[in-house]
Amino acid sequence: MQTKNLRIFAQSKRSGRKIVMLTAYDLTSALIAREGSVDALLVGDSLGMVVLGHENTLPVTIEDMVHHCAAVTRSRPGLPIIADMPYGSFHVSASETVRHAIRLVKEGGASAVKVEGGRSRETVIRALLAAEIPVMGHIGLTPQSIHKLGGFKVQGRGRGAADLVLDEAIFLEEVGCFAIVVECVPSVLARRITEQVTIPTIGIGAGPDCDGQILVFHDLLGLFEGIRPKFVKRYAELGEQAVDAVRRYSDEVRNGEFPAEEHCFSDKHPYAPATRSEAEPTHSPQPEAETERGYLTSCDTDEQGLPWN
Ligand code: KIV
Repeated sequence: MQTKNLRIFAQSKRSGRKIVMLTAYDLTSALIAREGSVDALLVGDSLGMVVLGHENTLPVTIEDMVHHCAAVTRSRPGLPIIADMPYGSFHVSASETVRHAIRLVKEGGASAVKVEGGRSRETVIRALLAAEIPVMGHIGLTPQSIHKLGGFKVQGRGRGAADLVLDEAIFLEEVGCFAIVVECVPSVLARRITEQVTIPTIGIGAGPDCDGQILVFHDLLGLFEGIRPKFVKRYAELGEQAVDAVRRYSDEVRNGEFPAEEHCFSDKHPYAPATRSEAEPTHSPQPEAETERGYLTSCDTDEQGLPWN
């Protein structure tokens, strides 16, 4: 599979080829996204809601982000991995911001970071770029500002508000961001922004004219039953399928159908089961031999030492 890097963003803007992004939070989601042919992964702070069970993204910590970003990186997706700077990690000072972002790069393996906000983030964006860390901007609905915005609301409606969002986009281009997420704005505004800036716009709830699109992994697959924003298209209902599978497992364990013979191990040297008194230890029991996978002990193994046969 071809390896992609951040250059895909500029190349796609030039060629007009749409950029496909998806969030990923661990090895499985990253591998699925890669096999599904996306161009870049965002380890979004949305993980606070769809993975960690918070009500919004505000409680997500830099530790959470580093932990999940490193899991995505270990999948070796061959794609650019962009890590969200969580709330509080870039609000105190430029030096603290850079220290946090360096952790995302060094420990998390990120190739870039995403920062919510526009002009108000000038100092920290400049500091990140000076530390050789590429920055993706994020304007429109910025979920880390929900208290200030009064909730998850469409932004940039009306001439004055639209001009302000456009101005933030132009600022992010001028300051040196390589791309901008544009979230929850009218399609007509997203088109204006996309036409006016030379860096790619990645839309979510911003209509069809952005240079690319991003969705949250759990939303796309129908895994998450929480909020269902209008802009989400669920391409599958895997949550329902998963519940059905677990329910069948529960039923089969209870009615004795699982495990069946094909799931059980045989013994090449069958023996008669010991009577209870013979089986009772006369000395302290020895711990079972440790295997590479701690939960698999004392069973037949194949030539690699794996207990499949
Ligand atoms: O946190 C996230 O997943 C995001 C995307 C939805 C853009 O910021």
